[in-house]
Amino acid sequence: MFDISGRKALVTGAGRGIGKVLALALAEAGCDISIVEIDMKNAAAVVEEIREMGRKAFAFEADVTKKDSLRKAFEGTQKEFGRLDICLNNAGVCIHQSAEDTSEKDLNHVVDINLKGVFFCCQEASRIMIPQKKGTIINIASMSGTIANVPQKQAHYNASKAGVIMLTKSLAVEWAPYGVRVNSISPGYIRTEMTLMGGQMFPAWESLTPMGRLGEASELRGLVIYLASDASSFMTGSDIIIDGGYTAR
Ligand SMILES: NC(=O)c1ccc[n+]([C@@H]2O[C@H](COP(=O)([O-])OP(=O)(O)OC[C@H]3O[C@@H](n4cnc5c(N)ncnc54)[C@H](O)[C@@H]3O)[C@@H](O)[C@H]2O)c1
Repeated sequence: MFDISGRKALVTGAGRGIGKVLALALAEAGCDISIVEIDMKNAAAVVEEIREMGRKAFAFEADVTKKDSLRKAFEGTQKEFGRLDICLNNAGVCIHQSAEDTSEKDLNHVVDINLKGVFFCCQEASRIMIPQKKGTIINIASMSGTIANVPQKQAHYNASKAGVIMLTKSLAVEWAPYGVRVNSISPGYIRTEMTLMGGQMFPAWESLTPMGRLGEASELRGLVIYLASDASSFMTGSDIIIDGGYTAR
């Protein structure tokens, strides 16, 4: 049921952090991987690592907010792999700032990448998956789509992630008749370069998390394999939170 060997996966933002760990997990499970990144230096290193595992891997330079470059990346992936089974929309950014001080530029930056970028990538995936009549899309949302974090202020980020959760549900309903499943994963605090920028808040975040620690990106791997595989064949439109108990309080 969990066997995904030979499947073709595309992962956005897989140059580092959660995307990198999950791309490697999919490769370890036997998938060939296409990476969509703006940081080609990091992407090339991950491609190398995946090829050393004996899988096919490619990186396409594309900004998830730019439809033209995304189109080339998805079409390039289809050309290389012949199909697309798994699309993991992970690329995202976070800025800590109060709502009253947020400029339109910063608001657009966060919403364009986190919400519009996921929308565009889902659209591109659907162009391949709907004709295939099969595919699984996994969007990385956040527990911030459900709760408002403290002590840092990040209203635009939280709103963008709530948008990803609702987008996921909407697309799941639209595309269920075509055999395309869409689910989201909402992590709590995970130790990556993104959260390291708020490193001084680690003690606060740890004390707010019932398990008393941040998570590791590797702790999301099991769920990704589940959602990517036929083990989750009746699951679509779901948002699964992995947060060490944060939102349970
Ligand atoms: N780290 C956490 O605690 C946490 C918690 C919940 C959700 N998330 C979400 O998980 C995802 C990954 O987070 P992370 O902590 O690994 O972040 P990260 O900053 O370490 O990595 C993000 C990656 O996305 C790439 N990227 C950024 N903008 C892009 C764009 N416009 N087009 C293509 N690629 C782009 C970056 O180059 C980078 O490689 C994000 O969506 C984030 O919001 C993270």
